[in-house]
Amino acid sequence: MEEKLSSVAKTFSPSPIQELSHLAQRCNAINLAEGFPDFPAPPPIKEAAVSAIHNDFNQYRHVQGICDKLALKMKKMHGLNIDPLTDIAICCGQTEAFAAAIFSIIDKGDEVLLFDPCYETYEGCITMAGGIPVYVQLDPPQWTLDPDKLMSSFTCRTKAVVLNSPHNPTGKVFSREELEVIAECCRRWDCVAITDEVYEYITFDDQKHETIASLRGMQERTIITSSLSKTFSITGWRIGWAIAPAAAASAVRNIHVKLTDSAPAPFQEAALTALSSPTKYFETIRIEYQLKRDLCMKLLDSVGFQIQFKPQGSFFLFAELPKDCMLSDVEYVKELIKKAGVVVVPGRGFFHGKSGSDGSCRHEKRYIRVAFCKSDATLNAAAQKFGELMNTRGCPKLYC
Ligand SMILES: Cc1ncc(COP(=O)(O)O)c(C=O)c1O
Repeated sequence: MEEKLSSVAKTFSPSPIQELSHLAQRCNAINLAEGFPDFPAPPPIKEAAVSAIHNDFNQYRHVQGICDKLALKMKKMHGLNIDPLTDIAICCGQTEAFAAAIFSIIDKGDEVLLFDPCYETYEGCITMAGGIPVYVQLDPPQWTLDPDKLMSSFTCRTKAVVLNSPHNPTGKVFSREELEVIAECCRRWDCVAITDEVYEYITFDDQKHETIASLRGMQERTIITSSLSKTFSITGWRIGWAIAPAAAASAVRNIHVKLTDSAPAPFQEAALTALSSPTKYFETIRIEYQLKRDLCMKLLDSVGFQIQFKPQGSFFLFAELPKDCMLSDVEYVKELIKKAGVVVVPGRGFFHGKSGSDGSCRHEKRYIRVAFCKSDATLNAAAQKFGELMNTRGCPKLYC
């Protein structure tokens, strides 16, 4: 059958994250690799889903109430006027909303700017649509956006910019100034911004998520994508959406209908309960994730990491390997699985560009990504394993 595969299919292979997950499963390792929670979803939302199943919400379905609630939320959070009848498409998670947004906008040969390091799913959608991904490197250690680098990446073929904030893998929340720079470029080059805001409610300290759509002249050129996955710990329920000007939202909806017809009916019903959660719920997840972030930072500190960038949002910590560690990211992760029974993700899969003045990418093999969206029991078990890693000389047994 292999010879029958399309040229597009042949370009894809299992992601390193999936492969490591399998290895971790085989070794029964504590999983700090994957970006999904290992603790239960909020009980009222689960009850709403069970009740929807009992009440036979079994058929293809569009739950308009989700759009109504999202429109109210966008007004309250960002001051945006969204027409719930025309400007929102419900999809199977952010992943499908993003793919449909790309297929709505990108023609063969169009360039799409992305920030590097980058969540790995975007590139595949862009290339499937015939688009050309162009990476703009964020500068470590603070993952700063250099306006000159951004501006010089635009060409007359640039059609869209992909913006993920809060950011996977770094935990960066793009600042207002950075959003202004991106918005100015989009306006000047008449480009669309396609955002991924799945971590919109997970920000720390005094950080607050802002959507670029709320900046001057941006709502008419932005497709926002997001979902319930991360906010409500229900990544498997597949409820997401795109919010965009009516023509783009309608295009996304048409593509969604061709791909999957509709998001799962009982979970759409339960989404009504999720989106009606009290303010306290959103405050609590921020506090809880911030505590998990702090625990995770302590844990890495105890085995020689000097974390230079404290995550401002999302639930990932992207840490540079200790200076005295000569292992690459992949070697480190393998050793960690073997010697500590803990799995994290090597950073290289998130990098796509060249960073050094000599054209080399100096830091791409020096990072690991740790997901701290895990129960306290999991994090404490990992802390204990990390603790056991230290030898009597106070060095981690992994590499010295
Ligand atoms: C940045 C980012 N966007 C999107 C997703 C997937 O979202 P969904 O479950 O809504 O498809 C993830 C999951 O890890 C992610 O990290």
